[in-house]
Amino acid sequence: MLLLFARSIEKDGAALCQEGAPIKLIIIDSINAILGRRSMNAESVMVQQIGDEAKTLQDGFKRVLAVQRKYKIAVILTSHVRAEMDQMEFLGNLILLIVGGNDTTRNSMSALAYGLDLFPDQRAKLEGDPSLIQNSVQEIIRWQTPLAHMRRTATEDSELEGQTIRAGDKLALWYISANRDESVFEDPDSIIVDRPNARRHLAFGHGIHRCVGARLAEMQIAILLEEMAKRRMRVNVVGEPTRVAACFVHGYRKLPVEITKY
Ligand code: HEM
Repeated sequence: MLLLFARSIEKDGAALCQEGAPIKLIIIDSINAILGRRSMNAESVMVQQIGDEAKTLQDGFKRVLAVQRKYKIAVILTSHVRAEMDQMEFLGNLILLIVGGNDTTRNSMSALAYGLDLFPDQRAKLEGDPSLIQNSVQEIIRWQTPLAHMRRTATEDSELEGQTIRAGDKLALWYISANRDESVFEDPDSIIVDRPNARRHLAFGHGIHRCVGARLAEMQIAILLEEMAKRRMRVNVVGEPTRVAACFVHGYRKLPVEITKY
C-alpha cells in the first residue's frame, strides 16, 4: 500500500497539497498503513469510504480527523500533543509524516540494491555474515543520503571555518557532502558494510529537527535485509538507474533489476 502511495505522490506530488486536488482512496489507505492498521475492520472501512467521498485531500484528512476523534484511529493521532495542534498544524504534520517516511526509505531500499550490486565484494561479505545487517543499514543510508540537504536560518552572527555568518543568513546544510567527508569516512564513495563509524552519518539531520522517523527507517531497511538473507535473495541490477532530477531528494526514478538466489 505504501508503495502504491509512493507512486501516487510521484505522479501528483506538486498537486497533493493544493486545495482542490483530487483525493485518492489510496491516500487514506496509506494513512492506515502508516499507522499500522493492516486489518480491515469497521473503522478502516469507514476511512476508506471517506477516501471515496472526499472531494479534496484536505477534505479527506478533515473527515479522517472527525472519525479518529470518535473511534481513536491510532495512538499517534490521539496523543496529548495532537490535542495542542490546530487543524492546519495537524494536517501539516500528517503530510510531513507521510511524505517524510516515503521517498526516504524507498530510495534507501533502491540504494541497497544498486549499491550492493556496485560493490559485489561487500555484498558477498554481507551475505556471508548476516550479523553485519545492522551496520550495513547505517552504511547504506550514509552512502545514499536520501535527503541531500536542509536549510537553517542563522539566529546570531558567527564564524565557521573562516566564513562569516550573519544573523538572518540562510544556510544550506549539505548532509550528503558531510556523509562523503574523507576526513571522517575513509574511502567515502564506497560502501563498506563493516565500516566502523558508519553510524556517524548525518543523513537524518542534526539538532532539534533530527528525523523523528529514524528508528523506524532503520528498522524497515534492516527487516528488508533480514528477509532477503532468510530467502538467500539477491537483487541484481540489469541496467543503469534513472535518477530523480532534484537537489533535495537524492533518489531513483527507475532501477531495472532481476532477483536471483545465492
Ligand atoms: C532513511 C530514511 C529517512 C531519512 C534519510 C530521513 C531524513 C530526514 C531528514 C534529513 C530530516 C530533517 C532533519 C533536519 O532538519 O536536520 C527529517 C525529518 C523528518 N523525518 Fe525523516 N528521514 C527518513 C525516514 C523517515 C520516516 C520513516 C519518517 C516517518 C514515518 C520520517 C519522518 C520525519 C519527520 C516527521 C521529520 C520532521 C522532524 C522535525 O522537523 O522535527 N522520516 N528526516
